[in-house]
Amino acid sequence: MLRTHTCGELRIDHKGQEVTLSGWVQKQRDKGGIVYIDLRDRYGITQLIFEEGVTESKLIEKAKTIGREFVLSVKGEVVERYSKNDKIPTGDIEIRVSELEILNVSKTPPFTIEEETDGGEDLRMQYRYLDIRRAAVREKLELRHLMMAKVREYLTGEQFIEVETPYLIKSTPEGARDFVVPSRMNEGEFYALPQSPQTFKQLLMVAGLDRYYQIVKCFRDEDLRADRQPEFTQIDCEMAFVEQEDVLNTFEGMTKFLYKEIRDIELGDFQRISYQEAIEKYGSDKPDLRFGMEFTELNDLAQGKGFVVFDSADLVVGINASGCAEYSRKQLDALTNFVKKPQIGAKGLVYVKYNEDGSFKSSVDKFFDQEALKVWAEKMSAKPGDLLLILAGEKGQTRNALNELRLEMGERLGLRDKNAVVPLWVLDFPLLEWDQDSQRYHAMHHPFTSPKPEDIEKLDADRGNVRANAYDLVINGVEAGGGSIRIHDRELQAKMFETLGFSKEEAEDQFGFLMGAFEYGAPPHGGIAFGFDRMCAMMAGEESIRDFIAFPKNNSGRDMMIDSPSKISSEQLAELGIELNQNNKS
Ligand code: AMO
Repeated sequence: MLRTHTCGELRIDHKGQEVTLSGWVQKQRDKGGIVYIDLRDRYGITQLIFEEGVTESKLIEKAKTIGREFVLSVKGEVVERYSKNDKIPTGDIEIRVSELEILNVSKTPPFTIEEETDGGEDLRMQYRYLDIRRAAVREKLELRHLMMAKVREYLTGEQFIEVETPYLIKSTPEGARDFVVPSRMNEGEFYALPQSPQTFKQLLMVAGLDRYYQIVKCFRDEDLRADRQPEFTQIDCEMAFVEQEDVLNTFEGMTKFLYKEIRDIELGDFQRISYQEAIEKYGSDKPDLRFGMEFTELNDLAQGKGFVVFDSADLVVGINASGCAEYSRKQLDALTNFVKKPQIGAKGLVYVKYNEDGSFKSSVDKFFDQEALKVWAEKMSAKPGDLLLILAGEKGQTRNALNELRLEMGERLGLRDKNAVVPLWVLDFPLLEWDQDSQRYHAMHHPFTSPKPEDIEKLDADRGNVRANAYDLVINGVEAGGGSIRIHDRELQAKMFETLGFSKEEAEDQFGFLMGAFEYGAPPHGGIAFGFDRMCAMMAGEESIRDFIAFPKNNSGRDMMIDSPSKISSEQLAELGIELNQNNKS
């Protein structure tokens, strides 16, 4: 037997027992007369002791040759420690070793495999299998496993069935680029990897499965960030015979269940806000509501007083940074530089300090007297000691910039508490979004989303104002999931493609299978998909999803461990009927 117990299991109650443990050497300390080894496995760490006068000297010599990450199996007696370690659960005992077998040796690892590691990100990615030996990474994968099990438990309990859909498909328009796979048997033709199983889950509703879910890989060729990977996992769901309210309730239920089961947090009923209100109050369709700091529009008070920056703007809008009137010149300059960064793009920042003595000091004193500033302060619910931060310019861009500033101030003031959980449904998204580059409307969610019935008539003349039965679940300012009630009528779906600029032939060619299915009794249906990796990171109070994925890609979309993507041989290319231009030939 290679082990009778794990390295995380033994306690003082086991004192006197003869046990066998196996694991990896985290540390070996040679103190002359005594050698200590910390033996690690998935469950914990147990200290082994080899002591002169007690342990056979041959065994002590062998212990001295052992290096980090060697794989051992040891037999010995559980004894009470002289000096206990209250930092680990096995800290009261150690194993007095009587037999030692080296199951495998190890090269010195390229970084320390402990809680705190000295390994840089790239190195850790290259040796991911070593990084996963660290408790900090392993625990994240364990959390992911638990999340999967609990999602399945909840949805199975709600009569959902898990159905697998294919990975080699035809393009699904979710807004990113497709990864494509050449077909050998159909030369010159390509599969696309699914950006989501959207059309398949709708077809399963037509097929009468009624409630479907899948924990499924999705593939999107888009720029990467901390919360984005080119292949990621969704909890993908669809329900037939439902209205928006039914979908919201079911998945609010799932989210509450997960937080309760996994973190023992009871979430109250989720707040709801319309897209329009989210944009006006927070400048974002995924506001972080762990703190307030809502926007106040000041056009009526601030325009027409001779300050050209305000007078020429579509929108003058500010936030109240409570308690920040004492900010120094340097701090205010830092905020101004922050909003002027190219990725934020504001031209400048106006501040108004509401001093403790009731007076005002602002960067626009030349144009606005104390009385005028007092009226602003009242409108922004400011009190002495507060700092008003105001931006002006084109509507969309100004709101975006103030959103960034609001989040930055939230961060500076410690208002984005890692342990708080504030979920929010954002509802009534616009169906269509104008794209400046292509000069056409795009589907804001995807082309299968249903317009609100009362807005259908606007599809011809007033497209920009058609609202959709679409919703996002936002938690702490992160989009956890999104979905919609779908179109289930062939005519309306055809109309939607036409609105999006598809010709009849293009629509038929790409989505004829779906519109055809709608002619055979498609039930009303709707659904949602959650970013599973994001939900895991959120559950742990973290922002990056990378450590919640066993083998993630880096920011350039590379797998550093297996070194992929990589070139393929000319034989393979020829077999696929693909010719690369000369520069790229391997
Ligand atoms: P959507 O495109 O909003 O909807 O995706 C659903 C959720 O998936 C997560 N997500 C990602 N997570 C990690 N890396 C990525 N690159 C990435 N892209 C998206 C987000 C997002 O909210 N078919 C529709 C759903 C539906 O209508 O039912 C869809 O895919 O958390």
